[in-house]
Amino acid sequence: MIVLKNERDIEAMRVAGTAAGTVLDEVAMFIAPGVSTREIDLYAASRIKQHGGKSAFLGYRKYPDHVCISVNEEVVHGLATERRVQFGDIVSLDVGVVVNGYIGDTARTVAVGGCDLLSQKLIDVTEKALYEGIAQAVAGNRVVDISRAIQTYVEVNGFSVVREFVGHGVGKRMHEEPQIPNFVDGKSSPKLRAGMTLAIEPMVNAGRPEVQILSDGWTVVARDGKPSAHFEHTVLITEKEPEILTWPEKRQSSLKAG
Ligand code: MF3
Ligand code: CO
Ligand code: CO
Repeated sequence: MIVLKNERDIEAMRVAGTAAGTVLDEVAMFIAPGVSTREIDLYAASRIKQHGGKSAFLGYRKYPDHVCISVNEEVVHGLATERRVQFGDIVSLDVGVVVNGYIGDTARTVAVGGCDLLSQKLIDVTEKALYEGIAQAVAGNRVVDISRAIQTYVEVNGFSVVREFVGHGVGKRMHEEPQIPNFVDGKSSPKLRAGMTLAIEPMVNAGRPEVQILSDGWTVVARDGKPSAHFEHTVLITEKEPEILTWPEKRQSSLKAG
């Protein structure tokens, strides 16, 4: 069953989404050479609290950390450790925040200081693929229109989309229906309707699409060891343009100011 949100739900999703987007932005700015992923996670925890939220991830299926931090060939669900990130690494950060019972879910990949040209192209293509997907997220289209737009853009640029993990509906629960694959899977695909809130999230590998899970039980890595990137927004379907719910506060105030 796909949950349609009413105006009150939507207002609450805006609040949770803004908190998630703002925390993501703050944590992204905190990342610098020499900082450990544990320190990044603890900083994220403090920012989430500051914004009146709770981590949507901590304790979810026994997940042990506040955010997901995935470095280089790690795709998603990386754990906080004593590992210190270095200049040239790329870090995928995924933030889920609960405010008043509603969840915002958003992710971004950033370079630590700078990175090689392949990793930078991977980051740029993955981000653009997200916006290609979001552009299809309008009432009357189907989920597969989002999937196709993402897959096409990624593959035209020579990269591959991960199959094992997908986007999803989001609301009071982190993973609601429908699933939103980043590829065309040939299954029947629900029609998009105003009031759906969806987490659209391409996970893109520089090399082959296959992934495996490390022995820690969580960290998903590219099997071929090549870098991977991840971008995600929570989006509201409307009769017109999709509304991105996970922009940081600062972007919203600058939009208002014109
Ligand atoms: N945020 C992830 C997603 O986008 C889910 C993380 S689940 C966790 O769907 F347990 F790893 F936190
Ligand atoms: Co996420
Ligand atoms: Co998600």
